[in-house]
Amino acid sequence: MTGKIIGTGSCMPVRVVSNQELSEHMDTSDAWIRERTGIRNRHIISGEETTTSLAAEAAGNAISMAGIDPEDLDLILLATSSSNTHVPAASCCVQQLIGAKHAACFDISAACSGFVFALITAQAYIRAGMAKLAVVIGADAISNLVDWEDRSSCILFGDGAGAVVVQATEEDIPFYGVMHTDSTKAGALLAKSRHQRIQPAMEETYLRMDGKEIFKFALTRVPQVIHEVLEQAGCGVEDVDLFLLHQANGRIIESVVKKLKVPPWKVPVNVDEYANFSAGTIPVLLDQLNRRGKLKRGQRLVLAGFGAGLAWGGSYIEWQMDRITGSEEG
Ligand code: ACO
Repeated sequence: MTGKIIGTGSCMPVRVVSNQELSEHMDTSDAWIRERTGIRNRHIISGEETTTSLAAEAAGNAISMAGIDPEDLDLILLATSSSNTHVPAASCCVQQLIGAKHAACFDISAACSGFVFALITAQAYIRAGMAKLAVVIGADAISNLVDWEDRSSCILFGDGAGAVVVQATEEDIPFYGVMHTDSTKAGALLAKSRHQRIQPAMEETYLRMDGKEIFKFALTRVPQVIHEVLEQAGCGVEDVDLFLLHQANGRIIESVVKKLKVPPWKVPVNVDEYANFSAGTIPVLLDQLNRRGKLKRGQRLVLAGFGAGLAWGGSYIEWQMDRITGSEEG
């Protein structure tokens, strides 16, 4: 038994915040942000939008594409670091919103690696015969965690959610996954919980980042994990059709492309429009490629997530959906 993706979906907040708008509130500029990060805009929650609402909308879109009844889902895994409830898990709220009343629900907290970790977990449940139809979501509202007065970090982040439906099948479909954590560097990306009994000072609950340490970590670990998962799959980087990397920032992605020695067109990017919204970036990129007709059956995809923990992971997928035609970009 293995799991295949039969639907993808995403949901981005309505409000777009440009670099220009940020520069009206802090000492930064569009040129600085674009040159260092490749980011132009980010989408930020407003009004009734929350991590949960984005997650439920993304899951609903994936479910519609899959053409399944939400009541047939037996598992909801939501990767997030920004649940709007401490108890219950955000995935429980998603269950209610999408009407998946027979699904077991839990959240996975692995920051920007969260979606890759959750997809590997869903596959493990399916392979063990413990689930048949799962929705796997990556959703974050990092705008709730950042210090909007810290120009060295807040400019990097945004909000959004993506999801896939994974169905068990008897077909022999290759899937490989690798996960790693090195907590000795946990301090490089840290936000204390706001729910501790001894309340931390407010500024300790903001996301703090050692940008240079994260940059070094990403450049070392991402190529490594890609080679590791490809070794399991028995193929090389040249055999891969598309690499979907966590959209942390444009310079990290460019540097990984150079290290891997792959053509840049095999490494799609949307960080310019959405910035870094942690667990959501990979499934949103996947959904956009799918809906734009860029994916076709048999293509080999490698996903790679990396971030707080420090944690990093990769997965190898052979795409099983037919190309979506008649999309806006064909
Ligand atoms: N606007 C203008 N100037 C700024 C800004 C800003 N937004 N932020 C920092 N600066 C200034 C600094 O104060 C410093 O000024 P100084 O030289 O007078 O002291 C100068 O710019 C250079 O600062 P550095 O921190 O050295 O800039 P660097 O070139 O390292 O770029 C950056 C910073 C973009 C954060 C980079 O380190 C980076 O990309 N790191 C990776 C971090 C990342 O992507 N994290 C994502 C979260 S983790 C994840 O998803 C994996």
